[in-house]
Amino acid sequence: MKTYRIALVPGDGIGKEVVPAGQQVLKVLAQSEGEFAFEFENFEWGGDFYRHHGTMMPADGLDALRNKDAILFGSAGDPDIPDHITLWGLRLKICQGLDQYANVRPTRILPGIDAPLKRCRAEDLDWVIVRENTEGEYSGAGGRVHQGFPIEVATDLSVMTRAGAERIQRYAFRLAQSRPRRRLTVVTKSNAQRHAMVMWDEIAQEVARDFPDVQWDKEMVDAMTARMVNKPVTLDTIVATNLHADILSDLAAALAGSLGIGPTANINPERKYPSMFEPIHGSAFDIMGKGIANPVGTFWTVVMMLEHLGEPDAARRVMRAIEHVTANPKLHTRDLGGTANTADVTEAVCMEIAATAKRPLATA
Ligand code: IPM
Ligand code: MG
Repeated sequence: MKTYRIALVPGDGIGKEVVPAGQQVLKVLAQSEGEFAFEFENFEWGGDFYRHHGTMMPADGLDALRNKDAILFGSAGDPDIPDHITLWGLRLKICQGLDQYANVRPTRILPGIDAPLKRCRAEDLDWVIVRENTEGEYSGAGGRVHQGFPIEVATDLSVMTRAGAERIQRYAFRLAQSRPRRRLTVVTKSNAQRHAMVMWDEIAQEVARDFPDVQWDKEMVDAMTARMVNKPVTLDTIVATNLHADILSDLAAALAGSLGIGPTANINPERKYPSMFEPIHGSAFDIMGKGIANPVGTFWTVVMMLEHLGEPDAARRVMRAIEHVTANPKLHTRDLGGTANTADVTEAVCMEIAATAKRPLATA
C-alpha cells in the first residue's frame, strides 16, 4: 500500500487549529479508502520557536522537508514579531528554498455560500489564479542605507528573470489548456512598468505560440480588479506576478464569499522538491484559540494536495464532502455569518467522507 509522507507545519495563530483539522480529514480518508496511508511528521516552527531560538525554523529545516511527499502548512504570523520576519523566516524560506514557483489559487462560489456580487451566479465565477512565487516584487532584493537620517534611502527591487517569467507562464498556459474553457488572462502593468512587465508581455506572446488551443488575453492589473467584479464570467485561468496575484487573490476570495474558504498550492512542477499546501487566510490572531476558525480553506487545500499526489478520486470525494457541508448553513462558521465552530465543521466533513466511502470505516 502506498504511504504518503506528509510534513505538517501548523505555524502560528489559527494555523494550529486548522492543520490538525486537515490531518483529521486525511486520516478518515485513508481509513475509509483503504488504498493509501499517510505518515505524518509535525514541525512546530513559527513564533514560539522564534522566541526560543531566534529563528522561525531550524537552519537545517529545509532538509527535514526535502524527503516528504507534501507539506501541509497553516500560517505564519505572530502579534509580537514583525511580519517581515515571520514571513521571510518560514513561508517564503520554504517556497524559495524548495523552488515552489507556482502558487495556484482556485476560487469558486461553493454551495450554500452567500457571495457579495449581485448579478453573479455561482457558475459565473470559476477561476484559478496562478501566482509567480519566487521572484518579482517578493525577490527580497533591496536595502536601507543611512537608517534614521533624513537622507535615508530604502528600496525594494522587483526582479524578473526570463527563466522565471517563462516557466510560470508556461505552467499557466498548460493549466488553462487542461480546464474546460481553455482560457487564460495574463495580468500586466506594462503601460507604467516599462522594463520587466514589457518582457513579461513578450514572453506571454512567445509561450502562447505553443498553446494554439488556449484563448488568451492581456489585462492591466488595475482594470483587472474592475473586470473581476463586473464581468467575472469572462475570466477562467489567470496568471500574474507575485504581488499582483497576491492582491487579486484576496479580491477573488472575497468575491467568492470568504477568505476562510480559499486554498493555495505552492507547487514545484518538476517534483524535484515537495510542494506545500496552505489555506489562504493567514493566522487571524483576532480569533485564534477560540476554536471558531473556518477549516474549509484547509480542507480544500487538502483536495489540492491529493490531486498533486495523484489521488484524483480521493480528492473528488473530499471536495464533494466539503460542498455537502457548506450547503448547510447550520455548518457555517462565523466568517460566513454562522455559529458553527471548527470541530463541528470538521466532524461533518469527516462523517460525509466516511458515509461515501468505498468501504466502511474501520472501527477504532
Ligand atoms: C498570501 C499572504 C502572504 C503574501 C502574506 C502573509 C505575506 O497574503 O499568501 O497571499 O503576501 O504572500
Ligand atoms: Mg495575500
